[in-house]
Amino acid sequence: MDNQNTINDIRSKINIVDLISEYVPLTKKGQYYWGICPFHNDKNPSMSVDEKRQTYTCWSCHNSGNVFNFIEQIENITFKEALKMLGDRVGISIAKTPSTFENKYFKYYEIYDITGKFYQLMLNTENGKNAREYLKKRGIDTNTIKEFGIGLALDEKNKLVKYLKEKKYDMNTLNDLGLANQDNDTFISRIIFPLDDRNGKIVGFSGRIYTDSKLSKYMNTKETPIFKKGSCLYHYHASKEYVRLEKYVIVMEGFMDVIRASTIGVKNTVALMGTALTDEQISLLKKLSLNVYLCLDGDNPGLEATLHNGELLEKAGLNVKVIYLKDKEDPDSYILKNGKDKFLSLIESALNYSDFKIERLRVGVNFASDMELSNYVNNVLQETALIKDEIRREIITKKLANETNLSYNTLEKKLNEYISQKKEKLNGINTDYTAKNDAKYNKYTRACLEFIYYMLINPKIIRIYDNKKLYFINADMRNLAGEISYYYHNYGDIVIADFYTYLNDKKELLVVFEEVLKLSLEEEITDITINDYVKVIADYNVRQEIIRLEEMIRKEPDELEKAKLAEQIRLLRIEGAKS
Ligand code: UTP
Ligand code: MN
Repeated sequence: MDNQNTINDIRSKINIVDLISEYVPLTKKGQYYWGICPFHNDKNPSMSVDEKRQTYTCWSCHNSGNVFNFIEQIENITFKEALKMLGDRVGISIAKTPSTFENKYFKYYEIYDITGKFYQLMLNTENGKNAREYLKKRGIDTNTIKEFGIGLALDEKNKLVKYLKEKKYDMNTLNDLGLANQDNDTFISRIIFPLDDRNGKIVGFSGRIYTDSKLSKYMNTKETPIFKKGSCLYHYHASKEYVRLEKYVIVMEGFMDVIRASTIGVKNTVALMGTALTDEQISLLKKLSLNVYLCLDGDNPGLEATLHNGELLEKAGLNVKVIYLKDKEDPDSYILKNGKDKFLSLIESALNYSDFKIERLRVGVNFASDMELSNYVNNVLQETALIKDEIRREIITKKLANETNLSYNTLEKKLNEYISQKKEKLNGINTDYTAKNDAKYNKYTRACLEFIYYMLINPKIIRIYDNKKLYFINADMRNLAGEISYYYHNYGDIVIADFYTYLNDKKELLVVFEEVLKLSLEEEITDITINDYVKVIADYNVRQEIIRLEEMIRKEPDELEKAKLAEQIRLLRIEGAKS
């Protein structure tokens, strides 16, 4: 068990508003800061950050916690790792213990690491001359080679296998890792690109042919427990610090695109590695930034992928812009041909995804056909209805009127129809989360939750709890109240953000705890209100007891016993009326 005081110390040195702001833009509104929740497909800001309590809560997906909970989830790491990471940040050092996952696959990571270094060495040997020439011809200098850990699998049989066997690694593992195939080197005569996981550790390799060869251009190590192609983004880990600076990430298709962009100083980039965008990749991107620029290949498949991926990213609540390369260029060839400044100005003039889509709608439309024209106009207006900014809507509608010779009024009327249709769909979503939340409990649940709330912020109420031995209406509430009392008597104080960590492995209690924290209540409490809670809770217990006795009466065959039970009920009712 980590020392609770160290944990609390680290936590108290970090302001949760600053920390979360690094991942999610926050806006202050009322008592809280609000932002788009990064843990579900959030469209409107439904995550609140409470600076006073140092906690966050998503009112929609019910994710909540303190700085540790946030970091654990957004970085996909364990509590221990989060503690280490935030400890480093405030200068409190925590010994690094590898996660169970890392422990289990320790050998895999180690072998890939050694292999990566081996391939890098091979690129600089005598026999690596042709590969070096090839890279040079493609304009990749030694700094870039180093930066991306580029290496070489020589044109020699089983060079790697021999090397790793000397290091006492067994053949089965090498086959499992895709470094060997039926005991022979997988990669022969290929330039090697290491693939990193989200923590920057090598989890696989891709090899590119560089000679006249009929073999497929790129070849990857196979999927393993630590590498799944669909959950990997090339250059993800290395891009992080640059994405933080630039506040957006550029998504490209291939290794070479990312590598080329890096040579002109554009490093806030990741590559899809030729796959369709998966849900896992989308949530990875969300953890990097909410602003995504798509810069895929300028050919037809690239265009289709831009439209498709843009849709997926927007659905996931991300802000999407498009850098579209004409003439079938990819970022690599575009930069080579046009240079740094041209590419930077392309980024500068990236289109909003909606504008891009509208532009694409026009392609191939025959304006002489009434049918095609009317389809086109409706499609554009439907897209426009989704745009929040009124001015942009007006600009698009005016352009559309000019372009089609239709009257602005007609188009505007139609646009407003689409907008109100959209609003109808959205109706029923109450954005006033706090009020809605408070309305959902019956008086007994409410009394219990409110009582527990005051236990958390006022030690006097803990003492009332201790004396009265209140019996809350369900076991989780009772246990939570018990924990609060215990914690208070042990630590002398309750800090809500620290109490989150204390409850870390008591998941059922966390659920109640979160409900309690969502209540919007005054901080001050009068004795009268507290007595009311106590009464309501006692009343509930009496009612439950009466229900139990009535049930017994129904099952009781003996008339005399029935009468005894009825008398008990009568006494309980009198007692209930008194309290
Ligand atoms: P591209 O064919 O666009 O690659 O495929 P590229 O980055 O432009 O590479 P160069 O310039 O020809 O060297 C895009 C991505 O698709 C994956 C790779 O990740 C590549 O970077 N791919 C492509 C494969 O996995 N296998 C292939 O055979 C081809
Ligand atoms: Mn390409």
